Amino acid sequence: MNENTLKDALAGLGLGEVRFFQETTSTNDQALRWAQSGAPDLALVCADAQTAGRGRQGRTWLTPPGSALAFSLILRGSPNGQGVDGNPPLSQANLGRLSALGALSVCLALREEYGLPALIKWPNDVLVGGRKLCGVLAEAAWEGDILHAVILGIGVNVGRDSAPPAEKVSFPATSLEQELNRPIQRVPLLRLILARLLHWKDRMRLPAFSQQWETLLAFKGEWVQAYSSSDLAAPRSGMILGLNPDGTLRLLGSDGKIFTMSAGELHLRPLAAHFIGDQNGR
Ligand code: BTN
Repeated sequence: MNENTLKDALAGLGLGEVRFFQETTSTNDQALRWAQSGAPDLALVCADAQTAGRGRQGRTWLTPPGSALAFSLILRGSPNGQGVDGNPPLSQANLGRLSALGALSVCLALREEYGLPALIKWPNDVLVGGRKLCGVLAEAAWEGDILHAVILGIGVNVGRDSAPPAEKVSFPATSLEQELNRPIQRVPLLRLILARLLHWKDRMRLPAFSQQWETLLAFKGEWVQAYSSSDLAAPRSGMILGLNPDGTLRLLGSDGKIFTMSAGELHLRPLAAHFIGDQNGR
């Protein structure tokens, strides 16, 4: 992967500027700094390797050289900008959907282009065969009450050595090459993902967006343990029913009552599976 092949391959998608790093700490950190210093809407930061890749809930994210996709898209929106659904993509009401947008785009690319049975582990991990293949870290840049930009950071395990070993994670991981058993070119895959992301970005408030998201939910109709970040020692079990209109997760509790979990506060674990490692793994 290099800057020229990347820019050539992504031409015509309608991105803002593209920045490539052979190695950086974290593409999200680069994108946050760039957003603060005036990056255009849909500017992209992509790296071959990250030395301090970040995951959700303060976890680390492994991006060894030559093996993974690690990129961050800067979404700015303009105050008057409207999507096909009539709403500006960048609004507080859309924050939950924005992070799902990344997972949905990867999930659709894996299904449509590679025939893989990819699913979304709510809110925004992508699983294949019950193993994590992609994670999304959405971060908002606020100035007071004004939402200036959202950084959508996406990491995809492509080569076999980009999936961390079982003893390092609390949720099992896989990679695209492990699932397909053949070499995969990362840059064409990036284009496939971004094309879907740009299509759905302007359609996040359409019923079709929520329908796709809900259809692709992993563990639907299954009992899971929902760990709240504020109290990891006291998980609540529930059966996943689906999504609420605002993108929060609807579950049926063992007491027969329906309850809701929102993205910032939840770790999901299927009840049947056995997990290795601690709760802070990826
Ligand atoms: C998670 O599952 O915890 C989210 C992982 C997000 C990783 C990506 S890789 C590109 C971008 N840069 C980062 O430092 N993190 C995100």
